[in-house]
Amino acid sequence: MAPIDGAEVAKHNNKKSSWIVLDSKVYDITSFLSEHPGGAAILLKQAGSDATTEFKKYHPLDYVNDLPAGSDLGPVDSNTLAQLRVPKEVEAKPASSTGDKIPHVSMIISAPDFERVAKSVLPHKAWVYASSSANTGLSLKTNLSDWSRINFRPRVLRNVGDVDTRRSILGQRSQYPFYISPMGTLGVIHPEAEPEMVRGAVRKGIHMVVSTASTKPTVQIMQTYVDEEKRVKGASPSKLFFQFYMPINRNKAYALLGVVKKAGYKGLWITVDTPVLGKRTADRVLQAEEALAVGVEEDSTAKWEAGNENTFAPAIGGRVATGQLSPHTTWEDLLWIRKEWNGPIVLKGIQCAEDAKLALEYGCQGILLSNHGGRQAHSAPSSLLTLLEIRTYCPEVIEKLEIYLDGGLRDGADVLKALCLGATAVGVGRPYLYALAAYGSQGVERCTDVLSEELATGMRLLGVTSLDQLRPEMVNMTPLLNEMWRPDPILLRSRL
Ligand SMILES: Cc1cc2nc3c(=O)[nH]c(=O)nc-3n(C[C@H](O)[C@H](O)[C@H](O)COP(=O)(O)O)c2cc1C
Repeated sequence: MAPIDGAEVAKHNNKKSSWIVLDSKVYDITSFLSEHPGGAAILLKQAGSDATTEFKKYHPLDYVNDLPAGSDLGPVDSNTLAQLRVPKEVEAKPASSTGDKIPHVSMIISAPDFERVAKSVLPHKAWVYASSSANTGLSLKTNLSDWSRINFRPRVLRNVGDVDTRRSILGQRSQYPFYISPMGTLGVIHPEAEPEMVRGAVRKGIHMVVSTASTKPTVQIMQTYVDEEKRVKGASPSKLFFQFYMPINRNKAYALLGVVKKAGYKGLWITVDTPVLGKRTADRVLQAEEALAVGVEEDSTAKWEAGNENTFAPAIGGRVATGQLSPHTTWEDLLWIRKEWNGPIVLKGIQCAEDAKLALEYGCQGILLSNHGGRQAHSAPSSLLTLLEIRTYCPEVIEKLEIYLDGGLRDGADVLKALCLGATAVGVGRPYLYALAAYGSQGVERCTDVLSEELATGMRLLGVTSLDQLRPEMVNMTPLLNEMWRPDPILLRSRL
């Protein structure tokens, strides 16, 4: 194919004909505009230009293989690149490299401090992506507030000079009983994306779950981990697990599992709370604004998100991603996944006692009580409330499975509360994302230090020196218990 002139590409900058350059190749994306899960506006902004940098913030480059057949028009003439249109887009830069006045990282005393700084440095769109939640934000608010509805019952005079915060997560020894939750599309948060998060995690010996929807390829993220482990040898080992969104196409699912296995990820966290994308209100507002700005107001954004089967998908960049997630997944799918993946499996997104029990019956090793950081179901229970429900109606699950919680954990003391009630460990999401946005891997390290110091102090003030001494009677959960679901006794007998 003869190389295409940059000036020619620049002409195709509208709804009727839309071309972009990706990695020196020209693609005709006109027919894909209305199918793009994130809406046509974001693509139209790039039409007629080299979209490689913008694209790479969201996806690995091989996502272009998902474009409709015939989209690939051939190479661009490299001598004419200057004639391409130049789209206006704000770069996500870590504050530390922008010269912006932000507090020195040592001024971060509590995890919520990162949020303020991140808000001041992130481009508006990236901020909306990170902070948004479902509907009125009720699930997110409950996540945050429920932790403060449980009090400690501290014991005194117990020699708490030395404390041990170590815990095993899916058989992998960890310095702490918390890990970094999977979060997609970190390329919009920091230019180095997931590898930058991994570097911070390795330096502090904290485990991390890597998202299917990562900006960088699965294998590259693992390679960063391996390189960083070598570089800082002697540090307490961290490990990487993989978060799995079930693709619609079964062959793609097999292929992805194969890649994850070969790369050496230590466990599979299957996200089950995302058969469709929750209603991310702030994202919708932004999408509508973007659409109006490029004159596509006649198209319904709702259609792009939910109108055809291929666009049901996960929380990727505040958008849905074609073919990434199947709304048709059922418990039976766990059977073939189990055959393909012979390592441990955790179900991420369990929100009631019945499903916790099913997870046990289906042979999972763990469950993560989670409502996706308040981004999916409206009026979802906090993970703490779900834990109380499980303790009440099927306590055997807690004895037989590893139990993880996430959502709204912002203090090492919250971690302790979860562990008192039977959690193996907890996941921390946004605080790490905000830390990455503001300070890169240094922020990730600081966030770990802040949480672990609060945890160790909390243990001493509670009167324990190791995590296996934590007991339910060390917390007063009465206020939350009063709120717990009380089933009709007949229903209870038939369902649980
Ligand atoms: C920006 C963002 C992106 C996320 N992306 C994913 C994802 O790709 N896969 C997933 O299973 N969960 C994802 N989550 C949910 C987190 O794994 C986790 O459940 C949640 O963030 C925990 O709540 P917290 O942020 O209050 O700590 C995402 C959360 C956020 C905030």
